[in-house]
Amino acid sequence: MRRIDLRSDTFTLPTKEMLESIPQAELGDDVEKEDPTVNQLQDMAADMFGAEAALLVASGTMGNLVSLMAHCQRGDEIFLESDAHIYYYELGGLSALVGAVPRLIPGERGKFTPEQLEASIRNQDLHYPISRLVCIENTHNRGGGTIWTPREVEEISKVAHDHGLKLHCDGARIFNAAVALDVDVKEYMRHLDSITFCLSKGLSCPVGSVVVGSSEFIEEATRARKMVGGGMRQAGIIAAPGIIGLQKMVGRLKEDHQNARKLAEGLSSIPGIEVDMEAVQTNIVLADITGTGWDVDYFVSRACKIGVQVFEFGSTKARFVTHYGIDSEDIDDALARLRRLLEH
Ligand SMILES: Cc1ncc(COP(=O)(O)O)c(C=O)c1O
Repeated sequence: MRRIDLRSDTFTLPTKEMLESIPQAELGDDVEKEDPTVNQLQDMAADMFGAEAALLVASGTMGNLVSLMAHCQRGDEIFLESDAHIYYYELGGLSALVGAVPRLIPGERGKFTPEQLEASIRNQDLHYPISRLVCIENTHNRGGGTIWTPREVEEISKVAHDHGLKLHCDGARIFNAAVALDVDVKEYMRHLDSITFCLSKGLSCPVGSVVVGSSEFIEEATRARKMVGGGMRQAGIIAAPGIIGLQKMVGRLKEDHQNARKLAEGLSSIPGIEVDMEAVQTNIVLADITGTGWDVDYFVSRACKIGVQVFEFGSTKARFVTHYGIDSEDIDDALARLRRLLEH
């Protein structure tokens, strides 16, 4: 029985072309900025986003971490949505390593409004931390892969910038947002001070993320990366698949979105499963399985036994993610298996 792995787009395996690019990559010492393949990837990323510079890092978590370190001093305040990956899943690095204080804004499907942000920003006073940075997440993981439109980002950026705050985007899946809306990522970057995007998720690369911003910001982020041990020497072996990811894997994200919609529609037709269809905007589907009478761990383990792998997502939901390596037939197959499982 073929296993259908819908746990995360981080489980994607590199394409043959990516693997073949590794032994051919021209290499040098990237700490000295002498790796031509890394430099090519970084120039390409900066160009795609219409920004001055970019920096290859080991992971999305490291990209967010060095961005926060570059923007903030210890004791500064950072505004984030309550379910932001940076707050929820990055081991408290924003406090433990950056020394920042999170101020959480409860959003809807991962997004807060400009009015909410405005209301959260306090006038500076001797008693308060210095407000420094606003973070948004696009697409929003815990929101279910939900999209901020460029217009929404512009509105948030106006409030942030009017108050002298910087705006960072955890854009681990920014290309999913851009492809879904058919907009250029430059339309986002115009309003941002920095962004991190991942090569190792929907773009299917084995390793790596990229931080993008102004030259000055990237210089600071480079220092922070070195401080946390992220100076990677002959990192061209990571950058070479990254270049292919950017060239060849962005457009196909559409397929993942179509498969996610098909999956969501199929799941909601299975008795006991409910899906908030409005939240199904990209490649993530959150399925509420309360109506099955099973608890989530039990559902996940039974699904795994029939070869459908998903992640538990809180006390009532399972998360399904579509990605390279999962095709439309896999979706039909997964739905048929789950339907049989729940009908028995
Ligand atoms: C929205 C978001 N940001 C950041 C990350 C962190 O990426 P990494 O696992 O490469 O550290 C993830 C990983 O799933 C993510 O979903």
